[in-house]
Order: sequence, then structure tokens, then C-alpha cells
Amino acid sequence: MPSITNSDIFDNMVTSIVVVDQSFIVKANNFAAEQLFELGAKRMQGSHFASLYKNLSSDITLLQQALETNQGFTDNLATLVCHDLRSITVDVCVTPTLYHDQPHLLLELRQVDQQQRISTEMQQLTQQQLAKDLVKGLAHEIKNPLGGLRGAAQLLHRQLDQENQEYTQMIIEQADRLNNLVERLLGPNKHQQHNLHNIHKILETIIKLVSFELPESISIERDYDPSIPDVNLDAEQIQQALLNIIQNAIQALKDKGKIKIVTRVSNQVTINGQRYRLALDIKIIDNGPGIPDELRNTLFYPMVTGRAEGTGLGLSITQTLIQQHKGRVDFSSTPGHTEFHVTIPVEHIKETS
Ligand SMILES: Nc1ncnc2c1ncn2[C@@H]1O[C@H](COP(=O)(O)OP(=O)(O)OP(=O)(O)O)[C@@H](O)[C@H]1O
Ligand SMILES: [Mg+2]
Repeated sequence: MPSITNSDIFDNMVTSIVVVDQSFIVKANNFAAEQLFELGAKRMQGSHFASLYKNLSSDITLLQQALETNQGFTDNLATLVCHDLRSITVDVCVTPTLYHDQPHLLLELRQVDQQQRISTEMQQLTQQQLAKDLVKGLAHEIKNPLGGLRGAAQLLHRQLDQENQEYTQMIIEQADRLNNLVERLLGPNKHQQHNLHNIHKILETIIKLVSFELPESISIERDYDPSIPDVNLDAEQIQQALLNIIQNAIQALKDKGKIKIVTRVSNQVTINGQRYRLALDIKIIDNGPGIPDELRNTLFYPMVTGRAEGTGLGLSITQTLIQQHKGRVDFSSTPGHTEFHVTIPVEHIKETS
């Protein structure tokens, strides 16, 4: 493991960092930026930011606006075309900042795995909805006859002697088990109750809930932003959505590991084509083995599971609940670092993107 000092932290980051002045001249950058643009530090510094690439879908006028209004923004899934015509999908985050006491912009460009992001953003919405509708339809069809079956077994139960009641009891128990599954398949159907809530309170409730069965060698680390305002949401639903993710992390860690919960706010976030001025970011990170490759493309589909005793409904329910809050849930995973990222818009004042 390489040891790093304060001065080379930036050069060890995978996110590309570029600092530009008010004329968009590059004043500083890290090593990742040089690799992204495939240019040396000498070529980058002193150059106009727009000369580093052939095309970037986040218009330079957005940078101008950020400087003028002193308000940062995030543009997810922006397309960057480099001089050598490589087309890369990046998340761009721009923050107005003071650098040597002068107003500058801090640009963070994070390369995203194009295929994964496109499949989560675009196909997620259509295909997963289809899968959910199919499963829900099926669950509906099962629910009614199942009720009849259980009722009949109950009637029969009363008429049988004790010895034979064992069989009807078994039917009733199995019908109840199936009914629980059907209820979960049907998903959340409760009317949403939005109120102002503190996200950290919700997270602390979840931590308390899981702490009863948490193995001692699994630690939960909090990295909360205390300045996050109360958010208008259905606390019960968000609790359920995040609990499912945290439970998965605990299960993935088996008996040993670390879970980190990070909360932040971000400005100007685009979710499913809608721009929001403010959004809540919650990241749940574990250092477990990672999501199995064969599940990655269908992870949020109902009934997709990698566990023998799993029903594969947890993440599907999480996604439905977060989508009901107009938010987004996605993930990135490598062995030793699995990150679920939930974004919930805070300001419901939409701006057309
Ligand atoms: N943090 C994680 N690390 C590794 N694998 C994960 C993680 N989170 C989810 N998975 C994988 O994704 C699968 C699907 O998760 P999901 O919560 O939808 O269903 P489940 O946990 O199998 O069952 P259920 O939640 O319904 O009891 C899991 O079975 C597991 O294989
Ligand atoms: Mg689960």
C-alpha cells in the first residue's frame, strides 16, 4: 500500500480536479486530470479549460453562471470528448471557491462506468418497471385464491380431529408464508405521508434497529454533514429504503468489516432529466466482497438475489420508495468497496434542464 503525504493526496485521487480562474484558465490540477485529458501538467496549466477537450456537454456558459451567481452545480452523465476522440461519461461537479484569495472554480470530473450508468439511468426506468409490473400482476393473481385456500383450510381445521389437524395447520402456515411474500411482491402501497424530517435521526433509528443483531466485529462509521436541513419526506418509507441497503451490507460482510454512512447535500442535481436546486446525498459504503458480477445488470429487479435465503425484494422495494420521492439509487462495487448512493431532491422547485 503506498504511503501518501498531505501534498500528494490530490494526486492519488481518482477524481480529476481542475481549478480555473475567472477567465477559465487552468491554475491547478491533479494527476487524475492529466490522465483524463491525456495532457501533461505543463500543457494544462495556463491553458483555457475549453482547450483541454474537443467537446463537453456541460456548456461553458454554466461555468460562467456558476461564477456570476457564486453557486455551484452538478451535472451527472455529461459527455466528454477528448482530443483523441475518446468519448467518456463523467459526473461534473463545479464549486465556486477562493484560490489565492481570488474567485476561482473548482471542477471535479468523475469518470463513470458508461455502461453501468446508462443501464441504471435509462433501462432502469423502463425495464425494471416492466419487471415490477409483471411481478405485481402475478402477486395480485395469487393473493385472492390464496385467501380462499387459507379460509377453506381453516374451516376444515375445525372439523378435524387433533391428529389430522396437523395437515391443515401446515396448509395454513404455508399459506401465511406465501401471503407474506405476496405482500412484499406487491410492494409499498401505503399513501405517502410527507413531513419535515432530520435524515440523521432516521439513520440513527436504523442503526439502533440493526445494532441488536450486529456482530461485534462489524463497525458502523458515521460521516454526517450536520448542516443538512430537515427534508420533506415520508420517514417510514425512507427508513425502510435505507434499512434494506444497510441490511444487505451487513449480510455481505458476513461477520467482519466496516460500514460507512455518509450524508451530504449537493447543488443543482439532475435526476431523470429534472434539475433540482438542492438534493440530499446518502452513501452507504461497505468493505465487503462486492456485488457478484452476474447480478450487476439486474440488481434492482424483483427476485434477483445472491443469497440462498434471500427473496431478492430488498433493493427493488428500496428503488420503488426512492423513486416515489423523485430520487435515484445507484451503486458502484469492487471487491473491498461497495457503495450505494441515494439521492433525494430537497427542493421540489423544478427547473427545466
Ligand atoms: N453491499 C452488498 N455487497 C454485496 N452484495 C450485495 C450488497 N447489496 C446487495 N447485494 C447482492 O444483491 C442481492 C439482492 O439484494 P436484495 O436486497 O434485493 O435481495 P436479498 O437481500 O437477496 O433479499 P431480501 O432483501 O429480499 O431479503 C443480494 O442477495 C446480494 O447478493
Ligand atoms: Mg436484502
